[in-house]
Parts: sequence; structure tokens; C-alpha cells
Amino acid sequence: MTTISPRYHITTFGCQMNKADSERMAGVLESMGFVYTDDPNQAKLVLYNTCTIRDNAEQKVYSYLGRQAKRKQKEPDLTLIVAGCLAQQEGEALLRRVPELDIIMGPQYANRLEDLLNEVNNGSQVVATEPLHIMEDITKPRRDSQVSAWVNIIYGCNERCTYCVVPGVRGIEQSRYPETIKAEMAELAAQGYKEVTLLGQNIDAYGRDLPGSTSEGRNLYNFTDLLSFVHDVPGIERIRFATSHPRYFTSRLIEACANLPKVCQHFHIPFQSGNNDILKAMARGYTHEKYRSIIEKIRELMPDASISADAIVGFPGETAEQFNDTLQLVEDIGFDLLNTAAYSPRPGTPAAFWSEQLSEEVKSDRLQRLNHLVNIKAAERSQRYDGRIEEILIEDVNPKDPRQVMGRTEGNRLTFCQGDISELLGQLIKVKITEVRPFSLTGERV
Ligand code: SAH
Ligand code: SF4
Ligand code: F3S
Repeated sequence: MTTISPRYHITTFGCQMNKADSERMAGVLESMGFVYTDDPNQAKLVLYNTCTIRDNAEQKVYSYLGRQAKRKQKEPDLTLIVAGCLAQQEGEALLRRVPELDIIMGPQYANRLEDLLNEVNNGSQVVATEPLHIMEDITKPRRDSQVSAWVNIIYGCNERCTYCVVPGVRGIEQSRYPETIKAEMAELAAQGYKEVTLLGQNIDAYGRDLPGSTSEGRNLYNFTDLLSFVHDVPGIERIRFATSHPRYFTSRLIEACANLPKVCQHFHIPFQSGNNDILKAMARGYTHEKYRSIIEKIRELMPDASISADAIVGFPGETAEQFNDTLQLVEDIGFDLLNTAAYSPRPGTPAAFWSEQLSEEVKSDRLQRLNHLVNIKAAERSQRYDGRIEEILIEDVNPKDPRQVMGRTEGNRLTFCQGDISELLGQLIKVKITEVRPFSLTGERV
């Protein structure tokens, strides 16, 4: 008699870090004999890896969860798991809201999913949200891409930006050892991966918790050192990293990026606001002048570098003039990409309790105005690619046109060209850009 493998489904709601956690949990489940399905309704195990960065992210989780909870009332052997940041934020409260849940697990427990499932099999409902030292992976992640991989280098965040839930839900900074990171990259290269993105909520904090760092927080082994240390892994052709923090971003790092050929000339450095009083209220620890000087230095050494960032509009107390400072910064810098968001008050964060909250109308009006400018600027930045030869790393077929493949330029612009994925997957190819749009390009192979 053959047994049918049980199927599992994961929906990922959050950021790159959240996606990387999903890939690890998928790896754990596959090592236990589960097989992936796209359709949650066909799965015996459904895992929602959640995000709580803004209220809309949180509400989306509840609506998905409601449907599976209903299903479980009819199919009691369904295993229902909420992982990630909302799970960490809500903990037991989630059980009261959705009593059908089997596991509520914070991001630090991603590697321990198998142990938690064993507890469920012994008849328990599990809440795993105690702070924890994150173990090194024993299971291989099941990665979505065969070409480009995430590599966590530091978990958690010790900053206290007054709007942000991340430190509360992801815990304190935990750097991985340089040797372990390099070994993971070597293994990825052996599997055929060409690109890695080094991940941390505040990547510039890398190393400051490792042994040998001083109590003043000066790291003896910092992110710039790490970049040089992992740079030469044979087979890895491109190295990216995110997210950078302007407070800690150094000239030394900029120089290293200019000198290390595999490091892509693409920088993701959120500025959040262009006004110094708002930056202060956010506890960001830099001024807009400092931010501008970082970008200036990058462009001095790497004139073609692409720059992306995040920004928040409608922070408590933000005046029309202060918002204009954000517009001005965007006008002056000209970002290749900007992720924008209306401020959303989050549980347990200081700014949520301040009295000067702005109305939804004001926030959404400012968001629209900012997005309008962002599109104009991105279109301008795209123009520089017109007619140029760019190297792109082929990742996939164009989902909208099976005759085309797609990949990214060094600066991270999505680029399409004619081609056969079975021949080109994972190849770095040269393309002459023939069409430019604000956030993507089309070209011809040369
Ligand atoms: N660690 C990164 C970003 C983490 S969260 C950093 O320091 O920049 C990703 C983005 O979400 C943030 O850059 C910010 O722009 C946005 N964000 C975080 N909290 C928010 C909130 N309460 N309301 C609106 N946007 C928020
Ligand atoms: Fe949140 Fe600030 Fe940490 Fe980024 S640096 S994750 S915005 S607290
Ligand atoms: Fe990422 Fe959302 Fe958590 S942005 S860190 S998954 S709250």
C-alpha cells in the first residue's frame, strides 16, 4: 500500500525577512514528508506567516484566518498555524480570537517548527513566543528561487523608532557568525545560486553583539568587514544587502561597495522623513543633511548607483510644511524606487499614544501627493537606461508573456527580453535596453 504525502500550504504576508522565515519553515515541513500545495483548501497543514507593520497587514491576516478556522470546524484534523510578527505581538490573545489554532509561534521559532508540531501531536495547543536564541539551521530551506537567495546575517533590531513594532516582535539583535554566513553562501553556490541578498532589519548593526565587540557598541567585526570576508565565494556573482540605516551607514562601507565588484551598486536606505523635527520624534538618530551627505558620497564614488528607500507620511504632528520637506528630499535626491506608507499607529509603540494623530484624509492625501512625485522621479531615473547595455540575471519567465524571460539589472530594475527560460535561467546576459517604464525595462539580447 502506498501512503499519500500530507500537503502543506504557507502564505507569507510580510517583508524579505518574513519570506526567508517561510522558506526555512517550508524546509522543515518538507524534511518531515509534507508536500507543498498552492491551494490552502487542499492542505492538511496551513501556516500563515504574518506581518503587523501596519494595521492593514494585520487585518488581512484575520480575514484569511477566519476562513481556515471555519474549515477546521468541519475538518478537525487540519493543522492551523500562525507564525511571524502578528503571532508574536498577539500571543495567547490570538487563541481567544481564533480558538481553532494549533500553534502560535513568533519569528524566533521558525527553526523549531518540528518540535512544536510534535507537541501538537501530543495533544497540545502551542504558544511559542518566549524570547529565544535563534539556532543555526539544521534543515535546508525550501527556496522559492533557484537563482537568488536570502541569507540572514542579523536577526532582530535594537533601535527604538517610535512608530515601529519590529523590535518588539523580532527581539534583540543576534548576528550570525561570519564563517557560518560564508559557509551558507558556498553551499548556495554549489546548488547553482548566482545572487545572494544579505538580510537584516538594521544591517549596519551587524557584529555589535558578537564576542569581541566592545561595550560601547563598537564592533570589532562589522558589516563592511563581513562584505569583504564573504565577497570571494566562487559561483556567487552578485551580492545585495538590505536594510541600511542612515544613522550607522559609514563612508568605509561606501568605499568597500565601490571596490568590491560583486556588490551591486544598489542601496536601500530608508529616510522616513525629510524633516529634522519629525526625524527626532521618530528617534531615527540622523538629520536630513546627514542623509543627503550619504547619498552624495555614494554618487561621488558610484555615479550610476541606484537608490531606494522607505518613507512614512502623516506621522503624529506632521505639519504641511514638514511634509513638504519630505517632498523636497524626494525631489532633490530622485529615488529609483521609494516604498511609501501612511503612518499607522501600532500597539505598544510610543507614537501610537501621542495626541496629535492626523486624520485618515490628511494621511491619504499626502500619500497620494508623495506617490505622484515618486512616479515622476522613477520615470526620470529610468530614462538613463534607454539605449544602454545592461547585464541582467535571468530569474524567471515573464508571467504576462511566456516568450519573454525576466531578470534584474545591477541596480535592481526588473527587465524583460525575448528568450527561453530553459536555456537562460540563472544566466547573466547582456541586454540592450529598448523600452523604459518607471519601474521596469525591456531590452534585446546582444
Ligand atoms: N528596518 C527597516 C525597515 C523595517 S519596516 C528600517 O529601519 O528602515 C519597513 C518600513 O515600514 C519602514 O521603513 C517604514 O517606512 C514602514 N513602517 C514601519 N512602521 C510603520 C508604521 N507604524 N506606519 C507606517 N509605516 C511604517
Ligand atoms: Fe523598525 Fe527602526 Fe528597527 Fe527599522 S531600525 S526595524 S524602523 S525600529
Ligand atoms: Fe517584516 Fe512585517 Fe515583521 S515587515 S519584520 S514581517 S512586522
